[in-house]
Amino acid sequence: MRLTILGGAAAAALAFATPALSDEDWEFAPLPKGEGAEDTYYACVACHSLQTVTNGAYSRRVWDELLDWMVEEHGMPELDPDEREIILDYLATHLGEDSRDS
Ligand code: HEC
Repeated sequence: MRLTILGGAAAAALAFATPALSDEDWEFAPLPKGEGAEDTYYACVACHSLQTVTNGAYSRRVWDELLDWMVEEHGMPELDPDEREIILDYLATHLGEDSRDS
């Protein structure tokens, strides 16, 4: 009984001890880590490198226009509204105007 309890505690501790991913293990590089990175990766990598995306540092409004431009001029499939929201939040947060020098 006592052993079972200890075993459970050890397993829980291990789960919490999982180290943060190192940069090499981050599968959506060069995108900065953050919520929405995965969606952004798959929506954008079809046509150009993610470097093209991370070169940008724009306000939400500009990213919004850029997404329209990708759709209208470059043939990006129209994003589902929820997904567009996730990607836009991600871009504005992690590749926003003030991320230019970081
Ligand atoms: C259907 C193809 C396609 C998809 C999907 C696509 N793009 Fe593009 N994108 C292009 C093309 C074509 C260019 C212009 C040529 C280039 O830079 O490779 C471009 C250029 C860009 C540029 C550079 C703009 C500039 O200032 O020159 C940015 C930023 C960009 N895309 C962002 C995105 C983001 C963010 C996504 C995903 C949400 C995305 N693209 C998805 C086709 C696409």
